[in-house]
Amino acid sequence: MVTSEVAIILLDVMMPGMTGFELCAKLKGSEEYRHIPIVLLTALTAKEARIKGIEAGADDFISKPLDYSEVLARTRMLLKARELHDNLANAHAAINSLTEFGKTLVETFDPMRFDRFRAVDGLVDQIVRKDERASDKPSMIVLGVREHGGGSSWQFYQWQRRALERSALTFGNDETWNITKDMRNFGFFNQTDMATPESSKLRNLLAALEVTATDAAYYFDYDLCLIALNFGRAITRNDLALLENLLMQLRFMGSLSQQIIDLEDAFTYTVHALARAAEANDEDTGNHILRVGEFCAVIATELGCPEKLLTAMRTQAPLHDVGKIHIHPDLLRKRGKLTDEEFAEMQQHVVYGAKIIGAHPRLEIGAQMTISHHEKWDGSGYPFGLRAEQIPLTGRIMTIADQYDALRSHRPYKPALDHDTVFRIITAGDGRTMPHHFDPQVLAAFRRKSSLFGEIYDRLP
Ligand SMILES: [Fe+2]
Ligand SMILES: [Fe+2]
Repeated sequence: MVTSEVAIILLDVMMPGMTGFELCAKLKGSEEYRHIPIVLLTALTAKEARIKGIEAGADDFISKPLDYSEVLARTRMLLKARELHDNLANAHAAINSLTEFGKTLVETFDPMRFDRFRAVDGLVDQIVRKDERASDKPSMIVLGVREHGGGSSWQFYQWQRRALERSALTFGNDETWNITKDMRNFGFFNQTDMATPESSKLRNLLAALEVTATDAAYYFDYDLCLIALNFGRAITRNDLALLENLLMQLRFMGSLSQQIIDLEDAFTYTVHALARAAEANDEDTGNHILRVGEFCAVIATELGCPEKLLTAMRTQAPLHDVGKIHIHPDLLRKRGKLTDEEFAEMQQHVVYGAKIIGAHPRLEIGAQMTISHHEKWDGSGYPFGLRAEQIPLTGRIMTIADQYDALRSHRPYKPALDHDTVFRIITAGDGRTMPHHFDPQVLAAFRRKSSLFGEIYDRLP
């Protein structure tokens, strides 16, 4: 027996085998059938029989001999009550779905990697029917999205019960479906509804997608179309409200993620602009500031640094020489050997830089890398002569990134060197640059990943 097919049960008390009371009690005791109203047809008018019926869970009694207009009236009344009960149960299920979906969205929300499709998977999971026997939910979801880059074609996908894998369907373009910028539409149609221009449009679309629909609740706007279909029961405004609400949550998260991404982009852009401003008086170092960020990311990844730290290093490494903005251009461009005084002044760029960056928490990593990128593992660096783990890890990583890049690049006082030569200098030393300047762990990571350094250098000349 399929639940949806049984609207009401009229039950005789006197039956061969099980009595009406027993069957009634059995049905009312089952999770699956207890919501179906039961009317006991009884010749017994005695009070005890009625009490027995009430105890068995009967919803109503009709005395024999039957008066058909009474049977009809009571049946109608009970069906109405059942409809209200079902609506309430559906509304309750809808609220649960909303809560569940909202919870999952919030718990798994990663603004930098918000994937609309993955979020729709979650949405479908909430609304699509999973139990063959249940008929309160749609058995299929069709999603259409405007093709990437805002063209006029649409890509459609469908989700079937349980099989949550998306399968791709293609369908025409804006003209086929008369889609305009200001379009935003919610609606539903049931099997027995008269066709409206809009519902026939939707039926045509579904036919083009080779999807058979008896009923559907749908939403479409300029770049998204979501259709829930084949509920197997009358679709109500509740279903539509649920659909709309889920979609709004999805849109909200999508737009929040976009705003955060935009903000992060602007942040990175500003950091790089500041780094470039500081380069104005320096020799032309090309993409030095971008490359060092990438080198740092390679080492940080190899050392298993947390994602957040890795991103901060990549974004903020370009600031490491920002303090050079305070160094006199003549000194920055001097070709010959620096005097002790000049060298002491040059060394101040790390202090100036840290001062410019200041103490904002978002720039903490950048400040740390700036002040420590000329420290050396053996304590021979500046400005503090820190040694080993006294130097923050970010600084130890930055040192090797900066050194590699400086050695590879042409400077007024030195030629550009190829990757293999630089690799040899860093790992074996040349008297000026020595392996013991570097954190052994960082150096080992560099050895393992040095080919990536070469690739990055070539990619960002
Ligand atoms: Fe520097
Ligand atoms: Fe540098």
